[in-house]
Amino acid sequence: MLQNLTEQPADQILALVSAFRADPREDKIDLGVGVYRDAAGNTPVMRAVKVAERRIWEGQTTKSYTGLAGDPAFARALGDLILGDAVDPARVAAAATPGGTGAFRQGLELVRMAAPEATVWLSAPTWPNHPSIVTYLRMPMRKYRYFDPATRAVDMDGMLADLGGVARGDVVVLHGCCHNPTGANPTLADWRRIASLLAERGAVPFVDLAYQGFGDGLDADAQATRLIAGAVPQMLIAASCSKNFGIYRERTGLLIAVAPDAAVQKLSQSALAYVNRHNFSFPPDHGARIVTTILEDAGLRADWQAELEEVRESMLGLRAQLADELRRRTNDSRFDFLAHHRGMFSRLGATPAQVERLRAAHGIYMIGDSRMNIAGLNATTVPILAAAIVAEGL
Ligand code: LMR
Repeated sequence: MLQNLTEQPADQILALVSAFRADPREDKIDLGVGVYRDAAGNTPVMRAVKVAERRIWEGQTTKSYTGLAGDPAFARALGDLILGDAVDPARVAAAATPGGTGAFRQGLELVRMAAPEATVWLSAPTWPNHPSIVTYLRMPMRKYRYFDPATRAVDMDGMLADLGGVARGDVVVLHGCCHNPTGANPTLADWRRIASLLAERGAVPFVDLAYQGFGDGLDADAQATRLIAGAVPQMLIAASCSKNFGIYRERTGLLIAVAPDAAVQKLSQSALAYVNRHNFSFPPDHGARIVTTILEDAGLRADWQAELEEVRESMLGLRAQLADELRRRTNDSRFDFLAHHRGMFSRLGATPAQVERLRAAHGIYMIGDSRMNIAGLNATTVPILAAAIVAEGL
């Protein structure tokens, strides 16, 4: 049997992780996978996470199963952080999942159960795992224009024109903030237009929210999601705690289904438990418990928010430093977009050959589409990157 397997293409982000590890150069710079790094290059465990883990260790009396949808307290706490008071909680169904990827996958499972003919619309470009999973599930898929490589900003006209062709019941995947891979995001006014168009078309928005708190702040980064939730009768949200709580390997995510009314909420809640049961049974609990412990304790929550702000501001500082450095070296403002983008990523605009040269000649690793993880930089490596960009004639 196993001999019938065929070699599968490597995931481009994870393949880069391996290539970076194998590179013996000491001055190599990793701008690949989306993991936050501090100035010393470490991905620290956040202070509040450490305290929460200790409390859990001391207080936990059982490791018995939770529910199929995880601990309802986690869904409530994270659901509040995301939705605020944008929707009546009686309309909100939610289930814990293994990470944000798990939430995205489970959301699509729900779509397949409810509307197998629905087309899933993805931004062009998007996080590569989005189309991979949709294709893996054999669901109809289309792309909408999103990024204008000339302006390095959102192509709003193209996006609205393409979303104007969405059929009733189609699912439109949106990055709630900090678009991955481009770093370019709609303004709040743009989001209003997007939300009303989706409502008018009868589309089901599916917001992927993996970077809340990494862009303009915890509330600001949830604004688009809340606005959409207020504009449409139903939507899905795939949330991740990997980045904003720094608990990547704990696989902590939440799938939220906002239903039109309490009766459909009940149906959705049982369907969420059903899809969890048939994929992996119970979701992981440890990360969810850390998040709940932090969000429910005023002191821990304040400390977590303060540290998250430090992380966010350090990325903004690196963006500004890189844009300044490139303006000085090129005597031109064409890289100013780096300071305007938000989140971990920006697309530099290099060709695949230039990306390869940056790796081979300078030991600088970025994804083939020239997506850079800004958090992989520090004050010392910014000028090195800027010099390499100029040397490669970008
Ligand atoms: C990324 O885009 O680099 C992250 O979301 C990590 C991943 O799983 O791809």
